[in-house]
Amino acid sequence: AAPPVRLLPALLPAETLPGPDSARPKRIPIGIDEATLSPVLLDFEADPHFIVVGDTESGKSNLLKLIAEGLVARQTPREAMMIVIDYRRALLDTAATDHRIGYAASSTAAAELINNARGALLKRLPPADLTPEQLRTRSWWQGSDLYIVVDDYDLVAGTTNPLLPLADLLPQARDIGLHLVMARQMGGVSRAMFDPVITKIKDLASPAVILSGNKDEGYLFGNVRPHPLPPGRGYFVDRRSGSRLTQTAFVQPAAPPGEGG
Ligand SMILES: Nc1ncnc2c1ncn2[C@@H]1O[C@H](COP(=O)(O)OP(=O)(O)OP(=O)(O)O)[C@@H](O)[C@H]1O
Ligand SMILES: [Mg+2]
Repeated sequence: AAPPVRLLPALLPAETLPGPDSARPKRIPIGIDEATLSPVLLDFEADPHFIVVGDTESGKSNLLKLIAEGLVARQTPREAMMIVIDYRRALLDTAATDHRIGYAASSTAAAELINNARGALLKRLPPADLTPEQLRTRSWWQGSDLYIVVDDYDLVAGTTNPLLPLADLLPQARDIGLHLVMARQMGGVSRAMFDPVITKIKDLASPAVILSGNKDEGYLFGNVRPHPLPPGRGYFVDRRSGSRLTQTAFVQPAAPPGEGG
């Protein structure tokens, strides 16, 4: 008999996702997949970076919020620090905890934060004489992982791109505890595949979510070709499981003060 047709919900509240698993603090659930309706997880231990692309109002900023709040719920500031680059201030109130050591809404502010971060990360590069065991246990430095969360990367990568100083560190991310979590507008993303940061993210086969878009963008990450989809719905692509149609969970905006509830 044909398997029953399962339908993804139009709205999946973030509260319905699995809660923290203390054995796996770097695993963040982001939605459910269509085939099994089971949770789709990012695993920042296995893959340090992540990118989401989508049209206007497709759910990019919401997904960054979900990930940032998922990290805050699972890791202490001593385990995970965050720098947020957010030119349109969509994430201003997101994960505004001690984890967040920097927030930039302009290229000048972003450049300063990123250059300081680069200086700190360079000191974590492994010395040449480490044993395989030392490399495996990452024992030559101690400190927090650093998550750089970037919304609207298309705006950030303008005439000056404050993220460029990170590009050469991205392949060494696991050794130095660096994570880049970014969102980019769908329009022109096929051309942006030549951008040095996106090239590295793609070469590393980083997990990606491809939300609604136009098929003219062609094949993007993991050979997914975008097409129009409802908000929050997209293809989750990672190197282990191929691509899965997924409904990403929605983070309810906080009620303005004084509105009860
Ligand atoms: N996971 C989701 N499930 C259902 N609806 C969603 C989801 N994410 C976003 N939406 C809806 O889409 C709207 C836009 O979401 P969001 O701001 O995250 O999109 P965006 O892609 O960042 O938009 P922009 O192009 O303006 O930056 C939200 O206000 C909400 O109504
Ligand atoms: Mg947005």
